[in-house]
Parts: sequence; structure tokens; C-alpha cells
Amino acid sequence: MSRSRAAVLSGLGSWLPPRVVTNEDLSRRFDTSDEWIRSRTGIAQRHVVDPGVATGDLAHEAGLRALKSAGTDSVDAVVLATTTPDHLSPATAPDVAARLGMGGTAAFDVAAVCSGFVYALATGAGLIASGIADSVLIIGAETFTTIVDPADRSTSSIFGDGAGAVVLRAGEPGEPGAVGPFDLGSDGSLAHLLVIPAGGARQRSSGREPEPGDTYFHMQGSQVYKHAVLRMTESARRVLAAAGLGAGDIDRFVGHQANLRILDSVAERLGIPLDHRVTNIADVGNTAAASIPLALADAAARGELRPGHRVLAGAFGGGLTWGSCLFQWPDITPV
Ligand code: UT7
Repeated sequence: MSRSRAAVLSGLGSWLPPRVVTNEDLSRRFDTSDEWIRSRTGIAQRHVVDPGVATGDLAHEAGLRALKSAGTDSVDAVVLATTTPDHLSPATAPDVAARLGMGGTAAFDVAAVCSGFVYALATGAGLIASGIADSVLIIGAETFTTIVDPADRSTSSIFGDGAGAVVLRAGEPGEPGAVGPFDLGSDGSLAHLLVIPAGGARQRSSGREPEPGDTYFHMQGSQVYKHAVLRMTESARRVLAAAGLGAGDIDRFVGHQANLRILDSVAERLGIPLDHRVTNIADVGNTAAASIPLALADAAARGELRPGHRVLAGAFGGGLTWGSCLFQWPDITPV
């Protein structure tokens, strides 16, 4: 990033679909219990879209609120991180930009599954640092429940729907809200651990009809769990080293809300006290690319995240992908 120009957080918005599905609700659908889900994941409920509502709708709501929080009604680019675009093609971001009254604005999707928000934030920061844009709306939005097999108790228990968004503006390095440094990484040799086997070019070009269930998201939960802890910890250590900081300098660790036990393990390995670890997973579940901005909004609303706090954001997801980022929380009011 250029020394003279930084991307600075200037707005935060979030949106959850109103319908809530509790663990008790799930236990009427398949063999599980509130006790199992709470103790293994920390999740009590998740928000779920009604029929006909898609990712673009949630992204639009969160985007509107982030723009309002930033005190603006337009930006130079819209970047949408999602695993659940409204269509395989085109991207969902141009539609969201148009609905936000920004037809003509650069708009594209970023696909990095649960790491998507950190990847999109890095992309937006790059657009600003390079001078391509002076302001960018970054949205993480998911209707993950549309790709979860309703009969799969493992994925149905953890994933939920929602959206969060931030506005980045051009500013000075070192000012509150300036994002960076970043650490991003991937390991495609383990793509099969989190995959939708059918529906893409690989299955279509094979000429074979999808097997039953293959259009749903498949997750090898316990393998993913181990990689999530390892990769998020390593990535966080790298970004802290790049900034010349230690775990003791971090006021708030806002990790991807994959599973409370994963968050706690990463915090423990890094030496970050649990009361510095932000979590809202009990109320929203794992919302993939929406997870970090939703956790930021929740923590800010509860007064747990305050201006001046030094924040470590860390994510891990399918791909495999992972990413971390540092920033000091600015004086903004989330909407
Ligand atoms: O968002 C980024 C990517 N995703 C993640 O980071 C998620 C990482 N993984 C996890 O959070 C955990 O692996 C899960 C919460 C998904 C599962 O917990 P686990 O303790 O790792 O369970 P497991 O997958 O090793 O499965 C152990 C048993 C299995 O039963 P059998 O085959 O031993 O009879 C599962 O079928 O637990 C069973 N199980 C359940 N039982 C009751 C899985 N989900 C449930 C459930 N209720 N909801």
C-alpha cells in the first residue's frame, strides 16, 4: 500500500432476515439437540431468509445502512463477497449497485467463501491505495441456508443467513480506521473439504447428471475444524509480525464466527484473553462472508468495540482460504 494513501473505514451497516430458527426447531427436523449444538458450536439460533429472498436483497439492505453510516449515498466501487450469488452468472454486485442508485459504478463479486470479507476488504483497500477509487462499499452477504442440505445435521446446525457492509474512503496511513496490513492465503489441494460438487463447469462438462444431494454444500467438519484453528492462528501471527505488534496489543479479536470452540482455540493459541474475543455466533450462527462485519456491528452496538480499539480480524473458509487484517476502530456509528 502506498505510504501516502490508505483505505479508511468510514461506515458500517448490517442486516439480518427477521425469521429465526432455533436449535429446538432443528431438533424437530432431525436427530440433534439444543445441548449438542450449543456445546459443540456455541450456536443457539440462526437467521434464515423467507422463500424468494436472495443474497442480493440482504446485500442491498446492509449496503444501504453502511452508506448511511458513512454519511454518503454513492461510492466509486461496490465489492460483494459471497458464496451464494443470486445467479451462477452474472455477479450479484452490479445488481446491488444499481438498486443502491449507483448504476454505472464498478461492481463485482469476490468468491473466497468464509474468508470472502477479508479478501474483499483487501481488494477495496487496493483499489483505494492505487488511486483507482476514492471510496468503496464492501459487502459480505450470504443466504447460506439455500445451499445447505436440509437433511444434513452438521451443516444445517451451523450455517445462517445475513449481511454486513463497510465503506472505505481514501485517507492517511495511521489514522483511526486505516486498514492493514493484510495476510491472505490459500491451499487449493484441500478444496474437497468444503465443496458443492455439482452445478459448476466441472460437473456440467462431464455430461453427467448430478448425484442426489450434490448441489448442496458438503463439509468434512472435523478436518475443516483442525485447519481452521491452524490457519487462522498462523495468519494472525503473520499479520501481527508484519505490523510489529504482539497479541498484547490487540484490544479486540474479531474472528470469522465459524464455531465458538474454533474462535476460543485461536484466541488461546495467540495469547488473546477471551474477554477480548468478540462473538455473536450464539445469535446468528456461521454466516460465512457476512460473519466479520456482522460481528463488528454487534460488538459496536453492545459497546464492546469502541473507538481507538486495535482490532485483529481473521477468517478461514473453503478453498481453503484464510486472511487476517489489522485496524484501529474509528469513531463511526453503525446503522
Ligand atoms: O466457516 C468455515 C468453515 N467451517 C467450519 O469452520 C466448521 C468447522 N467444523 C465444525 O464446526 C464441526 O466439525 C461441526 C460443528 C460441524 C461438527 O462437530 P464435530 O464435533 O467436529 O463433529 P463431527 O463432524 O466429527 O461428527 C461427530 C458426530 C457424527 O456422528 P457419528 O458419525 O460419529 O455417529 C456426526 O453425525 O457428531 C454428529 N453430528 C451431530 N450430532 C447431533 C454432527 N452434527 C450434529 C448435530 N447434532 N447437529
